[in-house]
Amino acid sequence: MEKTFAIVKPDALEARNAGKILARIEAEGFRIVTLKKHSITKAEAEGFYAEHAGKGFFGSLVAYMTSGPVLVAVLERENAVAHWRAVMGATNPANADPGTIRRELGQSIERNAVHGSANPADAAREVTFFFSQAEIL
Ligand code: RTP
Ligand code: MG
Repeated sequence: MEKTFAIVKPDALEARNAGKILARIEAEGFRIVTLKKHSITKAEAEGFYAEHAGKGFFGSLVAYMTSGPVLVAVLERENAVAHWRAVMGATNPANADPGTIRRELGQSIERNAVHGSANPADAAREVTFFFSQAEIL
């Protein structure tokens, strides 16, 4: 069993797509290990997306991720990291395969409904931004 970290991003909550996304997560065989609603602070967003600091879209990305509440979650199943990335689809909804969450619910390359860790090491790091060890058993 592997764990990954997911965010239901501000645009998805705003559009009231959270229920649909959580239902899809369960239909894909994930166990929701932990889940909470959270308002990401500017400092959290800058740290979380540190790999993108200095890129043209960084300021806009931080503003977007702090524009409204999100759901943060830890998901578990076999091959969780890769499977969740496949279910999300490509970063730009316009390039995402039919049936993926971003294709169905994403609004733009930035407002793309969901986040998923890129690899297991990132997943472990990202979880620590929002959850204590005791919360992820
Ligand atoms: P994520 O980290 O959120 O799961 O998405 P990702 O790996 O598919 O994409 P990444 O390259 O890590 O970019 C992180 C988030 O930044 C926003 N973005 N905006 N305007 C742009 O060109 C642009 N590129 C990326 C998206 O919200 C993307 O998910
Ligand atoms: Mg990424």
